[in-house]
Amino acid sequence: MAVPRNVSALARHLAHHARPMCPRVLSRSLATAKAPPSLFAPLDTFGDRHLGPDDSEVAHMLAKLGYDSMDAFVADTVPEKIRSATNAVSNETIPALSESELLRRAKELGQANKPFKSYIGMGYHNAVVPPVILRNITESPAWYTPYTPYQPEISQGRLESLVNFQTMVMSLTSMEIANASLLDEATAAAEGMVMAFTGSNGKKRTFFVDSGVAPQTIAVLRTRSKGFGIKLVIGDALKDLNNDALRSDLCGVLVQYPDVNGAVKDFSGLADSVHSAGALLVCATDLLALTMLKPPGEWGADIVLGNSARFGVPAGYGGPHAAFFAVTDKLKRKMPGRLIGRSRDVQGNPAYRLALQTREQHIRREKATSNICTSQALLANMAAMYAVYHGPVNLQRIAQKVHGLTQIIKSTVESFGYKVINAQFFDTLTVNVSGAAKDAEAVHAAALAAGINLRRIDDKHVGLTLDESVGAEDVVALINVFASAASKGSVSLSDLSPPETLAIPEGLRRTSQFLPHPVFNSHHSETEMLRYIYHLQSKDLGLNHAMIPLGSCTMKLNSTSSMIPLTWPEFSSVHPFVPKDQAKGYLELIKELESDLCKITGFAACSLQPNSGAAGEYAGLSVIRAYHESRGEGHRNICLIPVSAHGTNPASAVMAGLKVVPVKTHADGNLDLEDLRSKAEKYKDNLAAFMITYPSTFGVFEDGVQDACKIIHDNGGQVYLDGANLNAQVGLTNPAICGGDVCHMNLHKTFAIPHGGGGPGVGPICAAEHLAPFLPSHPLIETGGDKAIDAVAAAPYGSASILTISWAYIKMLGGTGLSDASKVALLNANYIAHRLSEHYTLRYKNGKDRVAHELLIDLAEFDKAAGLKVNDFAKRLQDYGFHPPTCSWPISTCMLIEPTESETLEEIDRFCDAMIQIRKEAEDIITGKQPKDNNLLKNAPHPLSVITLPEEEWNRPYSRQTAAYPVPGLLERKFWPTVSRIDDAYGDTHLICDCPSVEETASH
Ligand SMILES: Cc1ncc(COP(=O)(O)O)c(C=O)c1O
Repeated sequence: MAVPRNVSALARHLAHHARPMCPRVLSRSLATAKAPPSLFAPLDTFGDRHLGPDDSEVAHMLAKLGYDSMDAFVADTVPEKIRSATNAVSNETIPALSESELLRRAKELGQANKPFKSYIGMGYHNAVVPPVILRNITESPAWYTPYTPYQPEISQGRLESLVNFQTMVMSLTSMEIANASLLDEATAAAEGMVMAFTGSNGKKRTFFVDSGVAPQTIAVLRTRSKGFGIKLVIGDALKDLNNDALRSDLCGVLVQYPDVNGAVKDFSGLADSVHSAGALLVCATDLLALTMLKPPGEWGADIVLGNSARFGVPAGYGGPHAAFFAVTDKLKRKMPGRLIGRSRDVQGNPAYRLALQTREQHIRREKATSNICTSQALLANMAAMYAVYHGPVNLQRIAQKVHGLTQIIKSTVESFGYKVINAQFFDTLTVNVSGAAKDAEAVHAAALAAGINLRRIDDKHVGLTLDESVGAEDVVALINVFASAASKGSVSLSDLSPPETLAIPEGLRRTSQFLPHPVFNSHHSETEMLRYIYHLQSKDLGLNHAMIPLGSCTMKLNSTSSMIPLTWPEFSSVHPFVPKDQAKGYLELIKELESDLCKITGFAACSLQPNSGAAGEYAGLSVIRAYHESRGEGHRNICLIPVSAHGTNPASAVMAGLKVVPVKTHADGNLDLEDLRSKAEKYKDNLAAFMITYPSTFGVFEDGVQDACKIIHDNGGQVYLDGANLNAQVGLTNPAICGGDVCHMNLHKTFAIPHGGGGPGVGPICAAEHLAPFLPSHPLIETGGDKAIDAVAAAPYGSASILTISWAYIKMLGGTGLSDASKVALLNANYIAHRLSEHYTLRYKNGKDRVAHELLIDLAEFDKAAGLKVNDFAKRLQDYGFHPPTCSWPISTCMLIEPTESETLEEIDRFCDAMIQIRKEAEDIITGKQPKDNNLLKNAPHPLSVITLPEEEWNRPYSRQTAAYPVPGLLERKFWPTVSRIDDAYGDTHLICDCPSVEETASH
């Protein structure tokens, strides 16, 4: 049968020849719907929307597994000895709110935050989010629900946008290479410090920090320097670096440009001096300022970093924001974080993908120098789109306005008798109040009376920072605060005149061009911008298309109701360093969330500061170290970690100054308790910690978890429980019952914060009573315990604005709904295991034949029989419209499948049908019906550009129909990968990480 080449003709042809569509089963009928408990009970209950299967589907799945009740199923799945005996997570302890009740409560809390205008600065600004970006990226599930772009063929949209981010950073900083974001400016500075230290092969231990660096950055550097034994020296980088002893041990210097007080200093001489000492110059900077200032890449910086949030990302009480990180070419192989590169697909078409050789340091486990995994993709995409929308001309206009208004404020307040101590500045002034007002407090009092926050410095100085949001009326109001504190008459707009020159030293003005690339000069009308955003998103598969069964990633529903409060100004516009009485709504929400997380984990205290799972690991291990130190046992430095652990575990342990000792697992996937015991005993004098993921990364609840924890405690160690798999535990057991002392949770997994295409994340830690005093502090806002370690993130509550999502998720499900979610997650996984086990080798299950919330299938046999790899199955799944499961982790020949509770039986069956059909396709290759090197799996995925190849180029032993529409349901619902399989090796040997230039674009 000849198959038409033209696509619409092909679709008509297929519609005609395909098997008839299966009649769709209505999964929710009146007959199976639960009746509300009373006429007065709300009908918009969340549990029914969050859980995929309804009661009849649950009953169907239980029956297939041989159970007549959920309780009987759970009893066989979760070991009896760790089952929660108490009623800790129930509707009594966490009452469920309906969706509308939740939104009312969120509004109430939001309104308890005072809407002051903040000029506090210190790296946080009132960003102006272009509405086209707010509505179509920040609030769009097409952008916030996809996973990290590990499957580039179905992620070209956000990969292109992240390349825009990298290009924007490279161009504005004038550096040779930039990554696709880090967690925040302070942790980015810490990554810079560690690069400088490892660059000296650990031989030079002094890292010098200029006193103009923001205090929250210095606090995080203090924490991070400890684990590596780096000596941190704080002083004046332009004066204090002549000391020979210091220079001989110097690995790096960090400066801030402009500095926290607003001064713009010439560091070019410093760069020469640092380089002559064999050290690296690290510079924290501000992208908007760099549209007017000579970029650090032009005066000798080796590493340039900062916060990109003032490019259209709200303050959000501290985050999430995308930090940027750029380096010179010679440092590119050591750069932390994700780097997107341009490569090509097997047809030779250009395509983007994560550059493998520099991708995520943590895959190097204990040899890694950084543990960064989840970063801030969504926020990087917002910032990149902001630059696309404005382009170089508008960006400079915004900067000039900010700078000009700051100059007006300077000259006017000086006319009242105040003295601005930084004559050269971009947007920040430090004002000595002595000549005009009684003291700084008098100025703050006048500011607060006007609904304004200024930066508190000391009793003689106040600081202020302007941003894009500041208009003429704001300037007048701000000036009148100073007038009032100096008992001067108020001014009006007509009294103010624009400055005649710049307050930027001649030699530090930007003269070089920036953002000349076509993408930053094409989409400036809203119509074009909207179309660009939609063009990119149409290339990406997210939860808005299909299930994303990534094991260990828990890609569940990110409900709209839980996402709504996030972008309300009541939450998004709060500066992280406002006085606590202006953030009462946030603090109440934080208290409730901490308390609920403690109930769920069984622990006593919580810190929401870490802004990713890996950051939580680092924080938890640092807390353990501080605990040992407090008992005079600071020498304890051994960390036992199972070989099956996620790469971030050993990487975090090394960063916390621990030595990793691997522990074996048995062939059945269980932890080798005898190996654990012998290592715990061998190292008992120095045992610090044991890290364990539970249920294990092999997808089973092991019986021996409490025994393992006891072994550790008996030998003087503490147990860190990696909570990535907490979705299997909620309400059924908890990390405290399992025997842990501290755990992190991935709020971006278990508690429904969307993955954002690679971040944001939140990795809070909960700890037992004895560890609570050591939870992290913050230099500006009181947090943590009374023996707190220093800060682990820039903001006191980390990525505070997205805490609203997890808070809403927990409150809407309530205790009972939360444990129902875990039960259904277990059931969905076991149902898949049941359906697939006839066709694939299920690797691990417990004694009762049950897996936990995820399952491992082993594809090794296909490699042996026909040379088919895990990746071939994964890429073929893309043709079926699915995001592949986690590939080759924790076992290289396996797929780790996690459906979550949010998928319906229909979607789960669709996935199983696809896997079973692919199994048949593999069989054809094994039996020789299809050649080993030219078949449906090896050639997958099949984008339209392949399906529409001319007849003479279609050299494949299967039809276009079988390639693109292997099952009839795809005729109705087809997601097209936009490129063929990507050639990683080519990309790795031709590393290009920025957008095509004008010339390249023209030549195409
Ligand atoms: C088991 C496990 N631990 C830790 C992490 C790290 O979390 P994050 O990516 O938020 O840093 C992950 C992430 O996938 C994980 O699967």
